[in-house]
Formats: sequence, structure tokens, C-alpha cells
Amino acid sequence: MSGKFDLITTDGKARRGRIHTAHGIVNTPAFMPVGTAGTVKAMLPESVKATGAEIVLGNTYHLMLRPGAERVASFGGLHKFMNWPGPILTDSGGFQAMSLSDLRKINENGCEFRSHIDGSKHMLTPERSIEIQDLLDSNITMVLDECTAFPATPDEAASSMRRSMRWAERCRKAFRDRDGYLLFGIVQGGIYPHLREESAKALIDIGFDGYAIGGLAIGEGQQQMFSVLDYTPDFLPADRPRYLMGVGKPSDLVGSVARGIDMFDCVMPTRSGRTGLAHTRYGDLNMRNARHATDDRPIDPLCTCPACTSYVRGYIHHLMKTKEILGAMLLTWHNLHYYQELMQGMRHAIEQGGLAAFTDDFHRQQALGDI
Ligand code: GUN
Ligand code: ZN
Repeated sequence: MSGKFDLITTDGKARRGRIHTAHGIVNTPAFMPVGTAGTVKAMLPESVKATGAEIVLGNTYHLMLRPGAERVASFGGLHKFMNWPGPILTDSGGFQAMSLSDLRKINENGCEFRSHIDGSKHMLTPERSIEIQDLLDSNITMVLDECTAFPATPDEAASSMRRSMRWAERCRKAFRDRDGYLLFGIVQGGIYPHLREESAKALIDIGFDGYAIGGLAIGEGQQQMFSVLDYTPDFLPADRPRYLMGVGKPSDLVGSVARGIDMFDCVMPTRSGRTGLAHTRYGDLNMRNARHATDDRPIDPLCTCPACTSYVRGYIHHLMKTKEILGAMLLTWHNLHYYQELMQGMRHAIEQGGLAAFTDDFHRQQALGDI
């Protein structure tokens, strides 16, 4: 018995659940803030917790390069190293190696790449990826996979997916099964239903504690992503959590929860916080825009985050224009607070059987635009 998933209730295809890990419980649907290099940028861990987050994501790729997985292990694992005592999920490294490193080659054995930091050469195999995530003490380990490019022909998507399935089997064999630690497989297959089905079946055959859907939000657009999500969750077992990787904007989360997704991660709320974008129930605000300079209202008068309860738009605009660090801190906090409140709202709506009404309301408010 590794980590356990309770499916508490459903509303249409949407699910309300709970994941049990060695470092605590995750209520789903859940949004995981991205803590790439052992920190959710511009946030103290206790502040991340205060936004309502119950789990954060870490990256194999970044941490293996700096400070190194063995170094993190020598400090007692990533929880202790970064002072986040709660659950941690780690991505497996292949996706980041392909998008960030300078020179990368994929072959049957794994992914070879040059560090984007110092040009040093590294080899990430399925076995080494699992070993690194073990050294980090990750609660939810992801298999090494290849995120199939978009667009891809059916043949390209099939051979890429099938190699990821062979890697998934090697990851399963390398994973040290223990209580409170989960291993997730990743469904690939591009935008092709028969390939998504073949991939899901291959993973279910191997047997995982949870199933991710990869290869989305890479340029196909929301409509095509939703059409993949209209059928792919149906291929997955109801009693295991489902994680949509690298997604997304607020409307992506709402549409995906309705299609049966339980977990998300995305750099959007943290990255856009650092560049001056505030996500709100009324839509997105660019706080660098001159119209905020003389505005003495908060970003969102209904928001209870520190940025909205103690600071006016004119001040946050000033912080962003002067590139003051506090601007990034306040906007990141607000955005994470907004994302967590959105997830909390969906969890509550599912419990009440009211997700459809919640979704209608969400779209109506977003369409209002700035207040
Ligand atoms: N993050 C976003 N998409 C993906 C994917 O397809 N695979 C992995 N491992 N991480 C991702
Ligand atoms: Zn706020």
C-alpha cells in the first residue's frame, strides 16, 4: 500500500477527493504552486501555506543541476531543505530538459542534455530520474516521459508515446514502493484519441498510484485541449487521482475540473505576478498600466489577501514600475490566493452538486472585466 486516494463525491464528471501522503493530505481538485528550484519564487513557505496551498511542485531538472540531488539528500530531503513540511510532487526532468537545456538528444535509454547553467553534460535515464526524486524525498514521483511536440503526425505521436510507455515500465521497476509515497504514470498520445487510449491502457497494465495527462497546453489552444480532456479521463480508473500537467489559466482549471481532472500545476500565477499581471474574479489586470497610477482602490475589494487588504492599486503600480521586489511579492501572493480560492470554490461546489452553476457564475464574472 503506497499513498491512498479517497474519492469523496462526484458532480457530473467532476470529482472531490483526498490524497494521503507521508507529509499530509491534499484535498482535490488541487492547484500546486510551482517551486522549481526549491522555492516558490517571492514567497516564504508559510505564506504559500497561508494562500491555502497544500502541496508544491519541485523540479528534478533544476535541482539535479543545482545544488544536486545528493546535496539535497544530505540536508534531509527537499522538505527540510526548503522548509516546506507539506506534500511535494516532483516532475521527472525530461520536459524541462527538452525546453530549457542547450543541447539535448533523446534515445531509447533516456535524455542527454547540456546544462543551461554551465554547459555540463548530463544523462537522465528513467532509473536516474526515479533515484533523484527518491533522494529529494518527493511524495509524488513522476515517471520520465517525452512530451510529444505539437503538432505531431499520428506516426510521430505514436512512436514518442510508445517510448514513454517503455520508460514508464522502467520507472515502475526502479521505484521504491513505500507508505505515503506515490508514483504517477503520464498519458501521452497528442491529440489522437486512439493513442491516448493505448497510452492509458499501457500505464494501467503497469499499475500506478495516479495518472497524469501530459503533452497538453503546448500550443494546441484551449478548445483542442478540452476536446482531449473530453475523452481521456474516461480511459483512467476512477479510484486514482488525475493530474493535468502544466495547466493553466483560471478558465482552463474550471473547464478541466468539469472534465474530471483532480490536480494542476502552472507557473502562471507566480510568473505573471512577477511581471505585473493580477488574476482576479473580474479578469486579468496589468498593474503596469498607467490607468492604475492614481487608483486608490485595492486590486480586488473582495479579496482577503495581504496585497488587497493593505495596499492600493496606485502603490502596486509604483512598485512594478520601479521594479521593487515587494511588487512581485504582493502580486504573487494575490495570484496564488486567487487560484487557491478558485479551487476551494470548485471543491465546495462539487460537494453541493453545484459545479455547473459555479462555472456559469465564473464565466459571467470574468466577462465583466475590470470593476
Ligand atoms: N509539464 C507539462 N507537460 C508535461 C509533460 O507532458 N510531461 C512532463 N513530465 N511534464 C510536463
Ligand atoms: Zn488579493
